[in-house]
Amino acid sequence: MEHRPHIGIIGEGPVGTALAEGLRRAGYEVETSGHDSERVERVAAASDTIILAVPHAERKNVVKEMGKDHRGKKIIDVSNAVGPEMSFAGNPRKSSAEELQGWLLDAKVVKAFNTVFARDMTEGRIEGEPRAALVAGDDPAARQQVKELAPAIGFPPADAGPLENARWLEAPGYLNLRMAYQDPKVGPDFGFKLLSHHHGA
Ligand SMILES: NC(=O)c1ccc[n+]([C@@H]2O[C@H](COP(=O)([O-])OP(=O)(O)OC[C@H]3O[C@@H](n4cnc5c(N)ncnc54)[C@H](OP(=O)(O)O)[C@@H]3O)[C@@H](O)[C@H]2O)c1
Repeated sequence: MEHRPHIGIIGEGPVGTALAEGLRRAGYEVETSGHDSERVERVAAASDTIILAVPHAERKNVVKEMGKDHRGKKIIDVSNAVGPEMSFAGNPRKSSAEELQGWLLDAKVVKAFNTVFARDMTEGRIEGEPRAALVAGDDPAARQQVKELAPAIGFPPADAGPLENARWLEAPGYLNLRMAYQDPKVGPDFGFKLLSHHHGA
């Protein structure tokens, strides 16, 4: 029988809620934690795949709340490094995902979904048009698993290579936000689409 991971989502903001809805609709068992540190620890312990859907600046606190043993767990980092007044709080020479991997040495960190707005994360589509889910990670099995979660929600997955490439995924993620919110008249009504000559890039 197909093994379906038990997915824990830390954070119940727009992203955590949208991904939970999309994954549940796809038949995955999903548990979410709010801000409560005991729930964060419990959800992290019970899950083989953990989505960190928390503000960029809170990730280190959340990692502490998650407890110590993450051996073999897949951790999905969806964050965009946004600081005060929409400044870039990341580092192009070391992505937030690589930083997270450094805090969680025994886990397998994958960067995904950060180039999509929360409103499109439940179906992976805008008006029926599929949005790309770009997935970067060093562990091939972990990357593959996220590439399977994405189409279950509705996104065509695109392999973005090793975790180092999260540096270049975090750049368009940040651009996406600036395009949507620098001019308050725009908003998150658009999305990047990846075209390809073959299916399932
Ligand atoms: N929104 C988007 O369209 C979008 C798109 C792509 C990527 N992202 C990224 O996805 C992540 C989540 O985005 P969001 O819009 O859902 O953020 P959000 O509205 O700020 O929600 C974050 C969630 O994390 C919880 N949280 C904060 N600190 C925590 C802690 N120390 N321990 C446990 N939970 C904690 C919050 O709880 P409280 O509300 O109780 O504080 C809330 O439930 C961010 O890193 C963002 O950059 C967002």
